[in-house]
Amino acid sequence: MLSKRDKLFLAAEALGSLVCPVCRKPLARSGDDLVCTGTAKKHRLNVNHKGCLNVLSQQADSCYDAALFDARRRVFSSGCYNAVADAIEALLPTGRNRILDAGCGDGWYLNALLTRHHDWCGAGADISRDAILRATDLPCTALWLVADLRRLPFADSSFTAVLDVLTPASYDEFRRVLAPGGLLIKVYPGCGYLQELRAARGMAPYEEGQVDAYLREKATIVGEKRVTVTHAVSDELWRDFVWMTPLMQDLSAEEKDAIAAKPAETVTVDLHVAACCLEV
Ligand SMILES: C[S@@+](CC[C@H](N)C(=O)[O-])C[C@H]1O[C@@H](n2cnc3c(N)ncnc32)[C@H](O)[C@@H]1O
Repeated sequence: MLSKRDKLFLAAEALGSLVCPVCRKPLARSGDDLVCTGTAKKHRLNVNHKGCLNVLSQQADSCYDAALFDARRRVFSSGCYNAVADAIEALLPTGRNRILDAGCGDGWYLNALLTRHHDWCGAGADISRDAILRATDLPCTALWLVADLRRLPFADSSFTAVLDVLTPASYDEFRRVLAPGGLLIKVYPGCGYLQELRAARGMAPYEEGQVDAYLREKATIVGEKRVTVTHAVSDELWRDFVWMTPLMQDLSAEEKDAIAAKPAETVTVDLHVAACCLEV
């Protein structure tokens, strides 16, 4: 069986488009490191035994912690987001995709796609090390990296699709790394998204409009699906939803547990999935 480190090198080779975060020259394997080629100064990045490449010069603060990603993994495993992965897949370009999941979190969507399509290749980037360490446990062979989606270590035109799922976008950077004809798949909340959790916190339903308007200003939408499903949830799954959502991140553990102790019977997943062209 391949080690996590070998899987990362395999994915990096398949993509063939990693560049040095310092000098932007191509990177090539040298032992357990990636080293930039073509310059006198050899910048060196280590790929650790957990199969994670970190290209950040300093650790970024993230409001997403290990407990959130553990709860997220259990929620994804429950199947509540399967219809979202199906909608993303249906909107992707046809052919052998090269996918970047920007702000991939624990990597669930990229893994779902790469395990369905063994001839595709992909990378998942997130600013949170906790997220990427969970992603490297997944079965697919992908290039998992701790990186800022506003400055991606990839050559121009590297990907046929960029996924941006419930994550801040950097439209100029996404445009740069997308190949001609490539698509941005943007997933953003509809008004019913997690309405039961919002109500449990005393929040009004999500107000739609702002993300949608900004997206339409920056991109041309060429395909759209809306996924709206209300799931019956067990008390344990309700607790995981409470712990997995950034909606609760400003609460203490005791406050989250208090909301978890009063479970609702259902949770609604209501998301827009838009396929967008960023070419000017
Ligand atoms: C709500 S989570 C969504 C994660 C994943 N896309 C999913 O749907 O499960 C938002 C993610 O964006 C990441 N993120 C936020 N700003 C980022 C940045 N500048 N660069 C890379 N990742 C970022 C966070 O660390 C977090 O994992």
